[in-house]
Amino acid sequence: EAFLASDPLALLQVTDRFIYLQEGDVVRLARGGDIAVHDTAGNVQSRPVQTFEHGDGAATKDGYRHFMLKEIHEQPQVIAATLEGRLTERHALVRSFGREAEALFAQARQIHIVACGTSYHAGLVARYWLEKYAGLPTQVEVASEYRYRQVVVPEGTLFVTLSQSGETADTLAALRFARERGYVGSLAICNVPGSSLVRESDLTLLTQAGPEIGVASTKAFTTQLVALMLLTLSLGRMRGMNGARETQIVQALRTLPRAMSQVLALDGDIEALSMAFAEKHHALFLGRGAHYPIALEGALKLKEISYIHAEAYPAGELKHGPLALVDSEMPVISVAPNDELLEKLKSNLQEVRARGGELFVFADERV
Ligand code: BG6
Repeated sequence: EAFLASDPLALLQVTDRFIYLQEGDVVRLARGGDIAVHDTAGNVQSRPVQTFEHGDGAATKDGYRHFMLKEIHEQPQVIAATLEGRLTERHALVRSFGREAEALFAQARQIHIVACGTSYHAGLVARYWLEKYAGLPTQVEVASEYRYRQVVVPEGTLFVTLSQSGETADTLAALRFARERGYVGSLAICNVPGSSLVRESDLTLLTQAGPEIGVASTKAFTTQLVALMLLTLSLGRMRGMNGARETQIVQALRTLPRAMSQVLALDGDIEALSMAFAEKHHALFLGRGAHYPIALEGALKLKEISYIHAEAYPAGELKHGPLALVDSEMPVISVAPNDELLEKLKSNLQEVRARGGELFVFADERV
């Protein structure tokens, strides 16, 4: 017998042998399993049969209630996998991005990042890093908007796509659109090795998150952030980034899996805290700096998983509108890292308290 699907994961329970079709292929499956592939010109094409190396247990829940919970708890190990072989004691290895990476990165004077959904939020975080540590002006765009805009591409701009699947139509269309616009080259940060985005980009960095079956992205998002920090360090080092700072970040990346395990150990507390939201209909997420996109991602997760309306704002914007909506019926969630913006954030949160808003603050324990 033969099967047809848009993703190998859908068929793992019946086979691990796959033929990947190329753009424009037409395939005929007949009873008895014989398969005929023609290209757009009608010529018979022979596509190689590949075995899907998914590692054990990719399509099983391993005792978790659902795939999303399993994938949330896989993060420490997959982040270690994404870092594997890509760091020395003090540096990120630029050749992780491919043989031509060093030559392409040397030409980069600007970065355009294009993605959708959660991947777009990862790009928004990276903008803060690329500007701060690599000194590169960075523009982050939603693929469905980018592909229809008359984009101006300054000399020396590197095109970066972020995608878990590597098959998101808008992101793929954006890459094909970008190819004609004079970029120095394209980099795909992706989680699926054989995907169209990977095949059609000049450079690739695979996020090694393993198959992400949950529709809402979790481990793919955090491994994208790790990959983007490796990109930042690689570009930064080529552009005179402070060596001590680079080493500090490399050391911090090495401790990330353990730090994540500590956060995941709060699972019970977070579950208890979630009861406060069960009857609510609206929520507001706040963040500053690189944590504003984290607030956007939190709001997206609440929407797409719990169907509770949520939106995110830069905390400094609260007084310019959304504060009017804050009352005891609209929980306000804030990410409060122990950074240079903390005091500013605290005064924003006082505004929420003053209006009787219910505050949930995810803070560094030293705060
Ligand atoms: C959406 C998913 O359909 O596509 C999101 O629900 C995801 O979780 C978005 O972030 C983009 O997908 P990808 O595969 O391009 O990262």
